[in-house]
Amino acid sequence: MGRDVFYITTPIYYPNDVPHIGHAYTSVAADFVARYHRLRGEEVVHLTGVDEHGLKLQRAAEAAGMDPQAWVDSIDPKWREVWARLDIAYDDYIRTTEPRHEAAVRKILQAVHENGRGDIYLGTYEGLYCVACEAYYTEDDLKDGNCPIHGRPVEVMKEENYFFRLSAYADRLLEHYERNPSAVQPDARRNEVLSTIRGGLKDFSVSRTSFDWGVRLPWDEKHICYVWFDALTNYITAAGYADDPQRFARVWPANIHLMAKDILRFHAIYWPAMLMAAGVEPARQVWVHGYLLVGGEKMSKTKLTGIHPFQLTDHFGTDSYRYYFMREISFGQDGSFSWESMTERHNADLANGLGNLASRVLAMLGSYFEGSVPEPVVDGAEADLPTVVADVVCRYDEHMLAVQLQQGLAAVWEIVARANHYLVEKEPWKLAKDDSKRGEVASVLYASAEVLRILAILIRPIMPGAAERLWEQLGVELPLASQQVPGAVAWGGLAPGTKTTKGAALFPRLES
Ligand code: MSP
Repeated sequence: MGRDVFYITTPIYYPNDVPHIGHAYTSVAADFVARYHRLRGEEVVHLTGVDEHGLKLQRAAEAAGMDPQAWVDSIDPKWREVWARLDIAYDDYIRTTEPRHEAAVRKILQAVHENGRGDIYLGTYEGLYCVACEAYYTEDDLKDGNCPIHGRPVEVMKEENYFFRLSAYADRLLEHYERNPSAVQPDARRNEVLSTIRGGLKDFSVSRTSFDWGVRLPWDEKHICYVWFDALTNYITAAGYADDPQRFARVWPANIHLMAKDILRFHAIYWPAMLMAAGVEPARQVWVHGYLLVGGEKMSKTKLTGIHPFQLTDHFGTDSYRYYFMREISFGQDGSFSWESMTERHNADLANGLGNLASRVLAMLGSYFEGSVPEPVVDGAEADLPTVVADVVCRYDEHMLAVQLQQGLAAVWEIVARANHYLVEKEPWKLAKDDSKRGEVASVLYASAEVLRILAILIRPIMPGAAERLWEQLGVELPLASQQVPGAVAWGGLAPGTKTTKGAALFPRLES
């Protein structure tokens, strides 16, 4: 097919406040996956952004005494600042108030409206609305009379709406998911989606007349496009749906829409049906991770349990932050954060694990070889290190392609553990006392430095800063950014004579 773009998205976030570590969880995961695909030499588009329309935003602006546009303009930098600090290397950042997005929303609305099947029709809606979700609920959906997600009161809304004939898409959706068994992951989420579809789908309204902060329907300007219809469209806006057909043909369909389970039905039911109705292919995969919990409940701003990422990065650093969340929680399951477990991971895996390996090897290269990588001369001195590396490289790749992020990192740390153990076995510091063992010391340190070179390449997607620092200490001349898997991680790539330096510790130990 000749399509070689890997297109991954995060949800676009409601910017009615600053992000918390729950939002950052999605973005770090997307960035880790995106960077891994770049490491494989693929062209990657990682899209993120903010969802700036809708009643929730209009009310937040009112509460702040500001016009909605001025309000969203003032908040947006607070989100970008967080992504910059967390080293989120997105390729495109969308704000739904941008003209390119408005054009795409009007185009998809028009396409569905004119598809000849009457998929958009006028009706009246009376229902219970949760403004925080921007979604209607039935009495049955409520938990103790409140929104099942936010636990807050819902509002009775009655208005003339245009509806989208979702009910007509059940069979096509089922067929789509049968033909593409991995289109929703993990499998438990796929089963949930299938049973919702089999349980029957209700049409949903795609317009509102009770407020005006949004995109006007092209054929009836009294109506404002429903914020979810507007927001979901961001994924095709950025791919060039309205303004760049060539790019759209190359980039769309997205490979992965990443998100937490709260918004699964919008992505796995509404969105593919909207696209089908507009004559556009659905995304290839919706990947659903769990919640970050606080006290057993989803961390949220509404419940005042949100922790700002800077509260953690200031103490642990960006690399450790990124590593912790991806290594600690099984991707797809809910997980809890604690200061203690974060400190433990930092000290065990980073300070004592990788950091200690690097500092020991670089210090010995300095003391015994004046910081110049020696020639390996003793056959077999590298023991099983090349085999361990090759095996991990292979498994890391499989895990990352399957978005098994925790297992991917666990695999890479098998190299760290093996290499630390190798030093204990070989004891180069003892061998160095005996001049006749110089060749063996050289060979052991060559192998250890080679492991560091390979590790720097492998950890770059998760810890870009630490990888770069390690690379500099190793003194390899080629830029780290030019190194790709699997070619660059083949054993023996480190050139003897490379000038190493023992710089600052990669990960200083933290007090518990
Ligand atoms: N604006 C909508 C998404 C529109 S996408 C077309 C929205 N925004 S949100 O800001 O409320 O949440 C976005 C996403 O942030 C969630 O789906 C989820 O991926 C992530 N998370 C927010 N809180 C989270 C946790 N406590 N834990 C894990 N992820 C969390 O929904």
